[in-house]
Amino acid sequence: MKMWSGRFASSLNEQADLFNRSLPVDKRLYKHDIIGSIAHATMLGECGIIPKNEAESICHTLSDIFYDIKNGKLKIADAEDIHMFVEEELTKRLGQTGKKLHTGRSRNDQVALDIRLYMRDAISEITELLKEVIATLCDISEKHTETYMPAYTHMQKAQPTTLAHHLGAYCEMFLRDAERLLDCRKRVNVMPLGSGACTTTSYPINRNRVAQLLEFPKITQNSLDGVSDRDFAIEFAACCSILAMHLSRFNEEFIYWATDEFGFVTLSDEFSTGSSIMPQKKNPDMNELIRGKTGRVYGDLISLLTVMKGLPLAYNKDMQEDKEAVFDCEDTVKMCLAIFNALLPSLKFNTDVMGKGAGGGYTAATDCADYLVKKGVPFRDAHKIVGRLVRYCCENGKTLDALDIDEYKSFSEIFEKDILKTVCIPDLVAARKAVGGPSKKAVENRIAKIRKTLQTL
Ligand code: ARG
Repeated sequence: MKMWSGRFASSLNEQADLFNRSLPVDKRLYKHDIIGSIAHATMLGECGIIPKNEAESICHTLSDIFYDIKNGKLKIADAEDIHMFVEEELTKRLGQTGKKLHTGRSRNDQVALDIRLYMRDAISEITELLKEVIATLCDISEKHTETYMPAYTHMQKAQPTTLAHHLGAYCEMFLRDAERLLDCRKRVNVMPLGSGACTTTSYPINRNRVAQLLEFPKITQNSLDGVSDRDFAIEFAACCSILAMHLSRFNEEFIYWATDEFGFVTLSDEFSTGSSIMPQKKNPDMNELIRGKTGRVYGDLISLLTVMKGLPLAYNKDMQEDKEAVFDCEDTVKMCLAIFNALLPSLKFNTDVMGKGAGGGYTAATDCADYLVKKGVPFRDAHKIVGRLVRYCCENGKTLDALDIDEYKSFSEIFEKDILKTVCIPDLVAARKAVGGPSKKAVENRIAKIRKTLQTL
């Protein structure tokens, strides 16, 4: 019999009962539901709303229930949702006293509390995984501050850079992702219990005490909002979507870097798979799956936005759909970060292929033009001169660093012997000392700062 069956003459249709249930999804909130209930019961006892000794036995029994579930002694089943399950179990064990737990509380504020408690942990766990990825990238980058490769624009070779500089770009993205999640956590970290069903309660509750017990720095300030706000969940899914997008871009790079045509990277056997028909195949399945799972995370964000878009105040049952999207976001992002972190150190970078690529495609042309500018030629004229020089190279199958000084001089008398040093890739990269640039020093400084920042997150 349902706890709420009092006003009903007949029982719930079996199909409707199944449709209504959220237990298969929200059972993973059991720990947070119990922790929240212990704080609520403690407050009820302290405020004299229920007898102190009864509050104490509620707390002890809730804690027993928690350990029984954790140790597999108690199976979560046969209830409408996790809140009902815990309360029904409590009442089974405590009788009349168990029935007092729900005083001054509604499942509407209870579920809002549970999901916030849960998400606080989830965000911390995702951030830790992100930090591991960033640290691994710093380790790899440190070994490759002089591994030259081309930087691209429009997927065409643009200017030379280093592998460390390229990986560093992703460090910056992941750092922002971590900061974004921790910022989102501030809005998650607000205590809604006491909002009741929608307009609080007339019992003399102490909401701040519950917040203190559960280590929330703030409590919600409008009860209608407290039970019906899920923007923190949407924000979380948005943070996860941006993170998944970054992971996807990065893995896309490894996928084409591993092609025969590129050959920048060799995937380890441990993290690639074969084909059922083509014996020669070694496929980047892990990278592709990380890229592919981005779709799920975006889907979760769109689900949440869509569930919420037409809801009038305050709680509506539609909101029960929020958990699945939040959990799926969390699971997917965690899984992707963990596998990515495991495979990163196994990648073999083919530094000679990258180095060759850094020089090809006239990547030193900008520096060549800058050379003339530094000697007084207006940039637009310098651009034209070097453009002709490149055309000459194209037509004669030459590269900028293979031309001799006479060939340079035939395009402009201003070229002197030192132009040959200017178009030398290592010198050219070393000259880019500006903050954010690829010179060894600039990259090393940034890695050191990133490592420091990681300690503060
Ligand atoms: N299972 C519900 C949810 O996840 C809990 C809140 C139910 N409240 C209600 N008034 N039916 O949203």
